Amino acid sequence: MSRPLLFAANWKMHLGPGEARTFLDRFLAIDTPRHGRTVMFFPPAVSLEATAERLRGHEHDLVGVQDVYWEAKGAFTGATSVALARGAGASAALVGHSERRHVFGETDTETNRKVRAVLDGGLQAMLCVGEQLAERERGETEATVTRQLRTGLANVTAGADLVIAYEPVWAIGTGRTATPSDAVVVHTAIRMVLVDLGFARDTRVLYGGSVNVGNVAQLVAEPEVDGVLVGGASLDPDGWARICAVGP
Ligand code: 13P
Repeated sequence: MSRPLLFAANWKMHLGPGEARTFLDRFLAIDTPRHGRTVMFFPPAVSLEATAERLRGHEHDLVGVQDVYWEAKGAFTGATSVALARGAGASAALVGHSERRHVFGETDTETNRKVRAVLDGGLQAMLCVGEQLAERERGETEATVTRQLRTGLANVTAGADLVIAYEPVWAIGTGRTATPSDAVVVHTAIRMVLVDLGFARDTRVLYGGSVNVGNVAQLVAEPEVDGVLVGGASLDPDGWARICAVGP
């Protein structure tokens, strides 16, 4: 089945409000929207509002927050609730990005609390999964990803507004990309878990990890790859526009 492509930019800890506006001025000047394609930007929380304002009126260009905390409000210094992110213009949230898991120590159970808070708060959840190099070398890729999905999606209703991003940790920011056939093997395993959990066939599964202008076309040519989640190569508006121009 062919699902509309989604191109997601994870700016990580880059681009403050002014830089985000400058980026988007350039991107919007050169980007040609394509039928059915969605572009999504995940700026740092301080730039959510500037990003959302600059994209107002561009209905296929959406904004998401990189992380949320599951509590609705209170004494949680440094955290962003779903409602705060939504109020600043977010319509989606990344959950369980590998940097949240491996730099900040987030567990599968915490990821699940976040997924449920995001969905309960009316945002789309983009759940990130992926194995570390040692897990791949031990032949545990599918087991790792399956555990992250099953725990991360526990008590999530099958009709939820969900996207999965497969990001092998060893490919993030390293210049090493999974080959399209490596990605397809894992995407197919992810799809089987999603079907088993009752999620719709139109749930998109993105690939992330050193995606760039040179390799994106081959990746999205695979029917099991429904788009990409891009870090470093999404920070240059010209390159990002070229990435988003790829597709059928
Ligand atoms: P890079 O594209 O820089 O490898 O980052 C991938 C990523 O983590 C996107 O969320």
